Amino acid sequence: MSATQPDRTTVLSAIELATRAPSVHNTQPWRWQLGDHTVHLYADWDRQVRATDPDGRDLVVSCGAALHHLRVALRASGWHTTVHRVPNPAYPAHLASIEVRRHAPTDDDVLLSGTILRRRSDRRPLSSWPVPSSHIDRMIAAAAKAGALLVPVSDPVTRAKLIAAIAEAARQQESDRDYALEIASWSGRGPFAIDGVLAASSPAKASTHSRIPMRTFPGGTLPAYLGDDGADEATVLLALATAGDDTISQLRAGEAASAALLAATELGLATCPLSQALEVADTRQAVATDVLEDAAMPQLLIRVGWAPTTASRLPSSPRRPLADVVSELGSDERNGHH
Ligand SMILES: Cc1cc2nc3c(=O)[nH]c(=O)nc-3n(C[C@H](O)[C@H](O)[C@H](O)COP(=O)(O)O)c2cc1C
Repeated sequence: MSATQPDRTTVLSAIELATRAPSVHNTQPWRWQLGDHTVHLYADWDRQVRATDPDGRDLVVSCGAALHHLRVALRASGWHTTVHRVPNPAYPAHLASIEVRRHAPTDDDVLLSGTILRRRSDRRPLSSWPVPSSHIDRMIAAAAKAGALLVPVSDPVTRAKLIAAIAEAARQQESDRDYALEIASWSGRGPFAIDGVLAASSPAKASTHSRIPMRTFPGGTLPAYLGDDGADEATVLLALATAGDDTISQLRAGEAASAALLAATELGLATCPLSQALEVADTRQAVATDVLEDAAMPQLLIRVGWAPTTASRLPSSPRRPLADVVSELGSDERNGHH
């Protein structure tokens, strides 16, 4: 490692941790290019799940989460990052270029990086143990630092409207043939998968105990756990929002989602991103109006709470090999494409 630039192994290990970021249906819709002094992040539009995510918001949010994961991983290995978001407006697929400079990592930097491998999207019913408001405040502060507003939906009337919007979006999606085919093709994956959602990470059937609808991934084998009485009330729903709705706003929302999810993981909480209500135009509008009073644009919902003490540890979800997502800038330039 030189004094001014990390060596290739350090950068590749950081990218490997970045690819542990959550992504819609575990599509991992990103590509990385290594320059001499810069890492570039691109959206891989070939991996857009069009029936689920017609606007491509989930795709950019997923890339934003990977960008934040990369920054956390580099920080822990002694590199502070400066990010230029969408550096060339004429080429919006180039989401970010990341420059680094040396810094001394703190204990907190190292601990946060360690949470990357512990985080899981947990879709099971949660326990009735209440989440302390100080924990929610930590998530809100982490999201704010990363550039987005995280709004807990605690008022019962607003919360009921939000739950109704999620249920309505799920109903509309499930009655759409293209959605049904698409979700089936990304679900029920076995142990040799490199992407998609594992059967072992998805509940075998939707919980009838909880009123908070979770996206159904067909073919799930996760044992049904009934949940405690009062678990619904203890489960916290949050809306992540940005003032704008352009690519940079969506990217920042993804970065903030990562920040909030890692903060929650560090506190031992179980998290799951929920995006159905924002994938359908009219339910997204309902969330904007009912939850955010039309003052900001909703980009992602997050469910958080305590996993029951009896819950088994979820398997780690699969990832594509690094060779599939990383290229060297030089060779790609010679080939004449990005
Ligand atoms: C933008 C975005 C939207 C997502 N939407 C949902 C959702 O609606 N329901 C769900 O169960 N998981 C959702 N997820 C979680 C992904 O399915 C999950 O990140 C992926 O399968 C990888 O698993 P992991 O998070 O456990 O690593 C979403 C993730 C992202 C980044």
